[in-house]
Amino acid sequence: MSDEKVVAIDGPSGSGKSTVARGVGDALGLAVLDTGAMYRAVTLAALDAGVDLTNGVAIAAIAAKVRMELEGDIYLDGRDVSAEIRTPRVTASVSTVSAHSGVRGELVARQREWVVAHDGGVVEGRDIGTVVFPAAPVKVYLEASEGERARRRQRDEVAANRSVAVDEVRNSLARRDAIDSGRAASPLRIADDAIVIDATHLSVVEIVTDIVARFRTATGPRS
Ligand code: DC
Repeated sequence: MSDEKVVAIDGPSGSGKSTVARGVGDALGLAVLDTGAMYRAVTLAALDAGVDLTNGVAIAAIAAKVRMELEGDIYLDGRDVSAEIRTPRVTASVSTVSAHSGVRGELVARQREWVVAHDGGVVEGRDIGTVVFPAAPVKVYLEASEGERARRRQRDEVAANRSVAVDEVRNSLARRDAIDSGRAASPLRIADDAIVIDATHLSVVEIVTDIVARFRTATGPRS
């Protein structure tokens, strides 16, 4: 089973999941799947289609229909949307879209297919260890202080040529965290058997080294 070669990385926005996932993927020779990008791509498709974002059935139909390419750059129906899925327009709506259980059902099925096609992978998101790959040999819950998460996200915004105050980023993160953790369908929570890593005072290298060692211990010498 491909689940045996999954590293599940969950945690709130701005905890550094993507950077850590890339480092772990490189070290272990596993492909990396950013599931947040999938929810963002569906949100963009729904916004472009002018669908009411509270209509879970309509958005689930969009999630079932769109074509997504998820290696490196993100393509939606053949269009490179890597930058557009990170714009404030999408960020402001993605928690509403991802709270619909029908949307989640479609994307979770695609995530499982992706892992089979790639013979394992490093998968990052909010419900990977709890719902999508509960049998993953290594599950990480990555967290960081609110201030640190806001600073990281602000750096991302500046890198994308958008200047926003750190307080604004902090408020937007808090709003998204509250929806992601409080929703009925697969809320963000720490899996019982997850390792909790606080990234506030650790370097990416330290975190990656720790996760890689745990994966090798859990899966034996063949990895
Ligand atoms: O990781 P991110 O900030 O790009 O994720 C965008 C949103 O997608 C986030 O607010 C919650 C949602 N999400 C989710 O519900 N489940 C996942 N597995 C990944 C992301």
